[in-house]
Amino acid sequence: MSDREHISRRPGKQQRDAKISDSVKARRCAALAVMDVRANGKALELALAETEDYASLESRDRAFARAIAATVFRRSGQIKAVLKPHVRKKPTAPVQAVLETAVAQIVFMDVSPHAAVSESVDVLKSRRNTTPFASFTNAVLRRVVEQGKQTAAAAPPKSNIPGWIRGEWERTYGKIPMTKIAVQLIKDPGLDLTVTDKRQDLAEATGGTPVGRQTLRLKSIGDVTALPDFEAGTWWAQDLAAAQPAQILMSQFDDVKGVRVLDMCAAPGGKTLQLAAAGMTVTAVDKSAGRLKRLEDNLVRTKLNATVVHKDALEFKAEPFDAVLLDAPCSATGTFRRHPDVLHNRSPKSVADLVRLQDKLLPKAAALTAPGGVLIYAVCSLQPDEGLPRIAKFLENAPDFRLIPIPALPGLDLPNERFKGGVVRTLPCDMPKSGGLDGFFIAALRREA
Ligand SMILES: C[S@@+](CC[C@H](N)C(=O)[O-])C[C@H]1O[C@@H](n2cnc3c(N)ncnc32)[C@H](O)[C@@H]1O
Repeated sequence: MSDREHISRRPGKQQRDAKISDSVKARRCAALAVMDVRANGKALELALAETEDYASLESRDRAFARAIAATVFRRSGQIKAVLKPHVRKKPTAPVQAVLETAVAQIVFMDVSPHAAVSESVDVLKSRRNTTPFASFTNAVLRRVVEQGKQTAAAAPPKSNIPGWIRGEWERTYGKIPMTKIAVQLIKDPGLDLTVTDKRQDLAEATGGTPVGRQTLRLKSIGDVTALPDFEAGTWWAQDLAAAQPAQILMSQFDDVKGVRVLDMCAAPGGKTLQLAAAGMTVTAVDKSAGRLKRLEDNLVRTKLNATVVHKDALEFKAEPFDAVLLDAPCSATGTFRRHPDVLHNRSPKSVADLVRLQDKLLPKAAALTAPGGVLIYAVCSLQPDEGLPRIAKFLENAPDFRLIPIPALPGLDLPNERFKGGVVRTLPCDMPKSGGLDGFFIAALRREA
């Protein structure tokens, strides 16, 4: 039986659960999800959704559970430093998860410390096998209330990034950018919208700031469905960096209307929407049915058209396209500001597996690019192996393709070194005054006519 089952599936739990409040359940969901992300490499949203109480909680309690778990992943090094003086022997996984979620609340969240301690202890008491650890946890957390903030302040933000990732980033981007990247991890991210119509009106209605060609930056995430024009479908949530690959693709054509484009790994469809909104004839392929459903819902809401194909792109056959966008499956470590779990459910092996897939998808994308056509490769990863080496390896065996150098991105204030080698690399610490952006690698290639 797994640790997760230990905390959640013991006899007598129904009677015990009848007595516990929704806020204790939310705290328990957070602890269970933290364990699941760590042990099974799951995405946080999925791990939360699979906890037994999550679906039945009010949206406010679900958001609370999500915020606690996200804080554990954002502050992992600092939380470790806070617990270290008080916990000599490593506890079982459920107790460790409850301790971490409690420290997240006490030290980093706007939560009553008293409630955080007593309800975290109640989480342990809600299951027979963790009940014996309740008084130990209570004693540890009382000391955290007294000393936790001070200990956390002394631990540097970069301690929140797992060692193997920190090593790769330091070697690739340098020590100072690494420190700045780590600061982005502990900041609350804003919300970027890609807007297709009346961006200035939406800016005035929301207090957002227009940036780049199509983006509107809002200070906080909130409920997107409550924003103006949600039903009208003139915008969708998309990070400023994530909007660049499709814009680079479109900038290669004098007139994009009717140009045939393949979005090869398309779901949930941010880039498909950009291409379709510009009037391109889009075929959107993805192998995930669940994610394609979201793409289809997005097309309906935005009243845009694309041919949607549920297929493994490696097996997809069609007449070559004028342009192919390969937004490849990747470790997504560049998206840590909104998905801090990506730093904790990846490993060198999972990156190596993705690199092998990227090396198969690139030649397939090339075969689907017509002579004279454009191929864009993009990943939302900061891991060096998923970027330039993939293009270098591809070009070794593709003499009919050449790199189209990208010298700058309109409306984005990025240092020149982000365009070294003719490709684009964005770092989360870029454009700090306007809120940073996701880490992306983008390369544009053209096939000989
Ligand atoms: C980075 S995400 C794409 C994001 C999307 N382009 C957007 O802008 O919303 C990568 C996608 O690749 C899909 N994928 C992974 N392997 C695939 C394959 N062999 N064939 C097609 N799609 C694949 C995943 O399901 C995932 O939706």
